[in-house]
Amino acid sequence: MDHFEFRDGILHAEDVPLTAIADAVGTPVYVYSRATLERHAQVFKAALAGLPRTHVAFAVKANPNLAVLRVMQREGLGADVVSGGELARALAAGMPAQDVVFSGVGKQAHEMVQGLQAGIGQFNLESEEEGVELAALAAALGKRAPCALRVNPDVDARTHAKISTGKAENKFGVPIDRAAGIYARLSALPGLDMRGVAVHIGSQLSQLEPLEEAFGKLGELIAEIRAAGFSVTHADLGGGLGVPYKAGEVFPSPAEYGAMVARVCGSWDCTLMFEPGRVICGNAGVLLTKVVRVKRSSNNTPFVVVDAAMNDLARPAMYGAWHDFDAVRPSGAKMSAHIVGPICETGDTFAMDREIDAVQPGDLAVFRTAGAYGATMASSYNSRGFVAEVMVDGDRFAVVADRILPEAISAAERVPDWLD
Ligand code: LLP
Repeated sequence: MDHFEFRDGILHAEDVPLTAIADAVGTPVYVYSRATLERHAQVFKAALAGLPRTHVAFAVKANPNLAVLRVMQREGLGADVVSGGELARALAAGMPAQDVVFSGVGKQAHEMVQGLQAGIGQFNLESEEEGVELAALAAALGKRAPCALRVNPDVDARTHAKISTGKAENKFGVPIDRAAGIYARLSALPGLDMRGVAVHIGSQLSQLEPLEEAFGKLGELIAEIRAAGFSVTHADLGGGLGVPYKAGEVFPSPAEYGAMVARVCGSWDCTLMFEPGRVICGNAGVLLTKVVRVKRSSNNTPFVVVDAAMNDLARPAMYGAWHDFDAVRPSGAKMSAHIVGPICETGDTFAMDREIDAVQPGDLAVFRTAGAYGATMASSYNSRGFVAEVMVDGDRFAVVADRILPEAISAAERVPDWLD
């Protein structure tokens, strides 16, 4: 459920007509609904209410905007971060360092030191080598780093190959059959406080079975580690729950997910940790765009050229992803069209042969479900700027990220004097 609905023939974000946002801020612009973000955070927490000890860390990569993070912080969520930049954002949004989990295969020494000095709650180690390096850094600072070992369970998440992370050939985690040995060796290092295990098999999962299989394997590993005499007090189950991108699609609900977790992991006697991203913020955002031109093609299907492009919303170009496209003031008429952006490559295509609301140059439209992995994946390709971001709250709205103009980007560039 989200708060983007038609009222009097105009698409609104909560109580604000999207026409008003386009007038004030221009297009393209990402628009987030605070009520939707809050609702999704609450639904996720409610789904876990039957479990004794839980910790929910919002996956910052899904939407790192500071205002979005503040909404999460107000809902009591922590942060799952994968870089020093994301860690700084989580802290800037007011999240307690204790509530931050640091994931990622390529943590650099300066980032680990940043996490140690901030006093973050947990490092999710992706390799034995990383653990050895972190142990030395922590010992040099007179600290012990709280750690979980991320395992690769070799489970097929049945999602897009580029966002599958739990197959043996993927770069993430340590092979699960070697995990107990690695856990034992890392536990001997004075700089580390090995306290748990972690798993994350992929994103946009449409079924619970792969998660259940991975969690089952994690449970066996916990038993094995404990049998060897080591303590496991935390189990991080990652994120990955998918959301519908097409009207009418049905996905497992957070409640069904929570029930499965309770069944499979409820007896582990661990604090269960979660790293949801998309399920919290995906449907809480749209990319508002304007039709630049409707161009005749070689057959009867026109190209609808919009002012948003693959640099603003990369998912269709990158994963062939579908985003519903709706006119902000639909006339009721429909057309079949290809929807494309202005960038000079064919990959800058949002949809082919799509049945859409009939639109004309100057009309406003939205790509829905753009609140996750939207603005955060933007680039300045074709010397386009970075789009603005707006958050709506009831009948008010605020710009939560300024549009960054191409001039501001080129201002950071220099021509050396030896090219004079
Ligand atoms: N935890 C870890 C360790 C992750 O790598 C991810 C996502 C998450 C949590 C959050 O997963 P979520 O709940 O959002 O599925 N750019 C892609 C998605 C990449 C996901 C990367 N990792 C897309 O646009 O579909």
